[in-house]
Amino acid sequence: MLTCFSHARNAHAIPITLVTKSSLSAWQEKQSERVKAWLMATSFSNEVGKTSYIPGDDGAMAEVVCCVSDNNGLYDIGHLPLSLPVGLYYLADNLSQPDYFIGWGLGAYQFSRYKKPTREAAQLYLPTKCADHVLNIVESQYLVRDLINTPADDMGPSELADMAENLAQTYHARCKQIIGEDLLRENYASIYTVGRASDDAPRLIDFVWGNGSHPKVTLVGKGVCFDTGGLDLKPSNYMLLMKKDMGGSANVLGLARLIMQAKLPVRLRVLIPAVENAVGGNAYRPGDVIKSRQGLTIEVGNTDAEGRVVLADALTEAVSEGPELLIDIATLTGAARIALGTDLPALFSNNDAVAEAVIKHGKAQNDPVWRLPLFELYREYLNSQIADINNNATDAYGGAITAALFLKEFVPNNIAWLHFDVMAWNVRQRPGRPQGGEAMAMRALFAYLVERYAR
Ligand code: BES
Ligand code: ZN
Ligand code: ZN
Repeated sequence: MLTCFSHARNAHAIPITLVTKSSLSAWQEKQSERVKAWLMATSFSNEVGKTSYIPGDDGAMAEVVCCVSDNNGLYDIGHLPLSLPVGLYYLADNLSQPDYFIGWGLGAYQFSRYKKPTREAAQLYLPTKCADHVLNIVESQYLVRDLINTPADDMGPSELADMAENLAQTYHARCKQIIGEDLLRENYASIYTVGRASDDAPRLIDFVWGNGSHPKVTLVGKGVCFDTGGLDLKPSNYMLLMKKDMGGSANVLGLARLIMQAKLPVRLRVLIPAVENAVGGNAYRPGDVIKSRQGLTIEVGNTDAEGRVVLADALTEAVSEGPELLIDIATLTGAARIALGTDLPALFSNNDAVAEAVIKHGKAQNDPVWRLPLFELYREYLNSQIADINNNATDAYGGAITAALFLKEFVPNNIAWLHFDVMAWNVRQRPGRPQGGEAMAMRALFAYLVERYAR
């Protein structure tokens, strides 16, 4: 159990009353003169997140009141676990939908691998009726954050693979890896080539879970554990955050955990090309040509467009068994962030019905995604003089689209495919969303999969 929750509630537990913005003045009217005076004195108001600690006659805290939005904002009480005094609390009113508990859990997160947490989180009583769902979401999202926040020296391809193996073991999935030169022998030249300059050998992580007779759902995650840019080296300010370039694979592992913990009746497969895009005498070079698993030859126009190259071979393997649904998540382009900012993942899909359903769930889960087009007329930007395709478009405009079109070359049209280009990082601190690694599109996808597959 996470320390920010408690299954039990004792006599000392302090109630938290949530009052919606629009009902706040009516609620305030009903309070005793003493409480009214206190709220006035502590300048309590109908701003979402405003909080007042109301003392009892003995002066000790008797109640917490917090203003929330009218439409059940996931993060509305995300500030409480690390701002309330340490102790046990419970949600007192009829507004206690699971989302508030999830927001509490997300707000209690602290990355403590290298430094003691600044403080303990306050504890919230978690009623049994929503405990399984809330804990699954919060624990899976912690996993994603931890994976991304861990620096590349402790989360290289081998450590990322260890994490996948651990997860597979917990849920009795079968996990295998194809490592180093075995990638060449087994026809994964694109994964090998991108990752060969690193001391930590490139690999393809492949795990399978569930009953073989259930519908096949396959997740592919970009696992670039560090992206220096390769010989097309990134300037230092762009390189600084690049431990997060395995954020796609972290999200995919988080989603896999959600699916397995909830025992969704699917046959799940997770494929993660895990590499470090490093600099060295044996690094792949601009101008090199790689023969992909599918057969297409790829000219390396830019060694920094490595994500699409490693994903190409993983996608080829993914489609070889004809899954019913194929989802990839990748920190693929800076261009997607220019287009949509850091909080809004770009979604590309060859299937309108699935894309629209995921967008709908994204809104409902406070995990929004925005669709961009697979605009075929830009495909010509990827033409190469000497190979079938170039990994770097001749025109930088529409860079998220050209990257998606590159991936599309490896996915046949009859397979429903969703591609997410995500930031996987909160660039600033907000309630429920600490600065650092973040799950993006994961809760939207899980809700969609539950609707589609849960019995
Ligand atoms: N990992 C980066 C993309 C990225 C950068 C994602 C910053 C999120 C934040 C990717 O490998 C990359 O470097 N892409 C290049 C592609 C270009 C060379 C065609 C980019 O987006 O600039
Ligand atoms: Zn790159
Ligand atoms: Zn990258």
